Amino acid sequence: MSTRTVDIRPQDAAAIEAGFEPGRDFTGICDFSPAELQFVLELAARVKASPSGFSQALAGKQVVLFFEKPSLRTRITFEAGVASLGGTSLFIDQTHAPLGTREKLSDIAHNLERWVHALVLRTFEHATVSTMAEHASIPVINGLSDREHPCQALADYLTLQERFGDLSRIKLAYVGDGNNVANSLMLAAASLGSAINIATPQGYEPDSEILFQARELASRTGASINLFNNPAKAVVGCDAVYTDVWASMGQEDEVEERSDLFAPYQVNARLMAKAAPGAVFMHCLPAHRGDEVTDEVIDSQQSVVFDQAENRLHVQKAVLLLLLGGDMRRFPPRSARG
Ligand code: CP
Ligand code: NVA
Repeated sequence: MSTRTVDIRPQDAAAIEAGFEPGRDFTGICDFSPAELQFVLELAARVKASPSGFSQALAGKQVVLFFEKPSLRTRITFEAGVASLGGTSLFIDQTHAPLGTREKLSDIAHNLERWVHALVLRTFEHATVSTMAEHASIPVINGLSDREHPCQALADYLTLQERFGDLSRIKLAYVGDGNNVANSLMLAAASLGSAINIATPQGYEPDSEILFQARELASRTGASINLFNNPAKAVVGCDAVYTDVWASMGQEDEVEERSDLFAPYQVNARLMAKAAPGAVFMHCLPAHRGDEVTDEVIDSQQSVVFDQAENRLHVQKAVLLLLLGGDMRRFPPRSARG
């Protein structure tokens, strides 16, 4: 069974393996071409199969994490990932005030580029991530903004590739809020040539500019993107059903008004039964059990939520290797993949 959805020409693969030019960023899925995105998944599988082969890849490199919002998975997988590549990370709790409050973002960027080798940002405003990327000469990685959660989508598609193989033959249904996670999943599906159905209440669709971008990408990769308001229709025949919280971090004051509106979008056993036989349940976590998903579904055999969480580690290591690790040909070859 093929595990490749986008054909990477041998010369493209060689160019990617030779290393990205300095200062490339990962602020959103579209910072990588379809071939590069496919290569990240391939490299993540290599890293996952032979972690020891990469244990010195970032020796002598420092990565700083600035987080304006709480985190379990993103913080720990980046910190553990950097350490397991031989590098060092510094975590800056930025929950007391957004970055850019004390001094200009461009000034912060020009300080950091003199000291460290990469930045990981978790922000409220996506503009903080893009402004830092614009000014810093070192790689900037988006660890979640209000627009995208690209590392999450990479981990999710690695999980789907492990389960189902060829991503061009599977269909994912995302049910709930058209938020940062939905935006990145939609772009990743578009880039990887996969099919995605997205069911949201009216007015809560994914970002229209991102939808436009995703449809344009899809027209080149053969992906399909369909929007629904009816969750039951969206999940029919799908191989995976994905949901996320109804109110994201920063939207706490909307929790009450959203809970009635989103109630019909709960992923429960009745909804899962409409998906394809063998369909998996996905969630980026943290989950609000009893709201967007029932215990019965998230704790079922169909649930792959901890595979997704594990794969955050491997895909982020692959992203770090490509952005600041240099020549990948020094590391274990594809044949080392388990
Ligand atoms: N899925 C995810 O990003 O989790 P954290 O908010 O715990 O980092
Ligand atoms: N959409 C959620 C994802 C959390 C990982 C949020 O932004 O809070």
